[in-house]
Amino acid sequence: MIRAIRGTRDLLPPDTDLWNRVEAKVRNVFARYNFHEIRTPVFEDTSLFARGVGEETDIVTKEMFTWEDKGRAASEKSHSLTLRPENTAGVVRAYIEHGLDKQGKLQKLYYIGPQFRRERPQKGRYRQFYQIGAEVIGPPSAGSESPARDAEVLEMLATLLDELGLRGWTLQLNSVGCAADRARYNQALREALKPVVHLMCEDCQRRAETNPLRVLDCKVPEDQPIIEKLPKISAYLDDACRKNFAQVRAMLDAVGILYTINERMVRGLDYYTRTTFEFTHGDLGAQGAVLGGGRYDGLSESLDGPKAPGIGFAIGEDRLILALQAEGVVAAESLDAYIAPLGAGMNSHALKLARELRRAGVRCDLGDESFRLKKSFEAAGKSGAHYIVILGENEVQSNEFAVKNLSAGTQESIARDELANYLRR
Ligand code: HAM
Repeated sequence: MIRAIRGTRDLLPPDTDLWNRVEAKVRNVFARYNFHEIRTPVFEDTSLFARGVGEETDIVTKEMFTWEDKGRAASEKSHSLTLRPENTAGVVRAYIEHGLDKQGKLQKLYYIGPQFRRERPQKGRYRQFYQIGAEVIGPPSAGSESPARDAEVLEMLATLLDELGLRGWTLQLNSVGCAADRARYNQALREALKPVVHLMCEDCQRRAETNPLRVLDCKVPEDQPIIEKLPKISAYLDDACRKNFAQVRAMLDAVGILYTINERMVRGLDYYTRTTFEFTHGDLGAQGAVLGGGRYDGLSESLDGPKAPGIGFAIGEDRLILALQAEGVVAAESLDAYIAPLGAGMNSHALKLARELRRAGVRCDLGDESFRLKKSFEAAGKSGAHYIVILGENEVQSNEFAVKNLSAGTQESIARDELANYLRR
């Protein structure tokens, strides 16, 4: 038997009902904040991610699905392509490629779609997973650099999670400063690590050389006491970054959004500047981040684009669904009625009735004239319908239908022109 590849999975009903409800709510909230959808390709030039996400990140060094795409003609060069591990680099590429900066306004773009990372699969961590993300990007003259953008994005996320009915979330906030701050902080980390790094895990020993900031991501328990004593990023922010972070926090305070400052949260992608954040959820265990994001003020320039400060986030949709389910949220769409044609020649009458009802907004399903009454009831039960409508010769003649409430067991006779109102719940 051929099975789905490890780390990928099939999403089936009734779970897909919840996925769809989440996506419908997300689109509704995004529209109220003036976000518009962007769809970028699922694969891109490998160098987009190497340069965008960062050569030293786990994503680029270990987790990308990359292949050489051979030219079709012998004269064509082959090309290194990669399944997108995230969507921000693709959005910024599209922003540059289509000259969106020339519109002189903020671009508020959102996306919903699959991403791919070759991580070790476990609950909440898949090799094909889904992100719901958004980016606010534009020329500085459009206000793209303002801390007001950060606060608005965070406020939108809090509203979105509230409207989805998710309760147990916490906002973790940090500032990783600008490139110069991080260079100074990296240097301080390097020095602080020198005398202790030999006591740490292999990954940390490598990171201490290549990208000391990544040491803060380490989850190895024995390394934690060492990491706790390392210098903190807040001491290395310059005045402008410090002021910027204070303004973001003041706006969150003003609208009553609670957060905790987590100075260890440096995020796994290299493009971040200033505000970074994650929303975590207690029921997710080791894979606790429902979403993550932050500001990326130099990303466009690093991809040869114009100056285009931006901020965005991506929700891990798989994890969001797990968190909602852990809180008991279900969204099986229930069926109003099952129409049971009884006897030869009744299928076309049943189809006609179903057509009227469906056009009137009733959710209904259709049986078959070959079913005996008992089998129709069994099929109606399996369909999850609230009512069964029996349709035989007499009903067609009289235009009155026997309607049985399948859970209460009660039965009534309803006239055809009142049927839709009666069944629709
Ligand atoms: P990220 O933190 O790498 O950020 O991913 C965002 C979210 O995607 C995570 O918080 C998690 O919920 C989900 N996620 C990541 N990897 C997996 C996986 N293997 N399985 C299931 N869920 C996963 C980004 O991707 C940035 N592009 C976010 C961003 C947008 N920053 C600025 N704009």
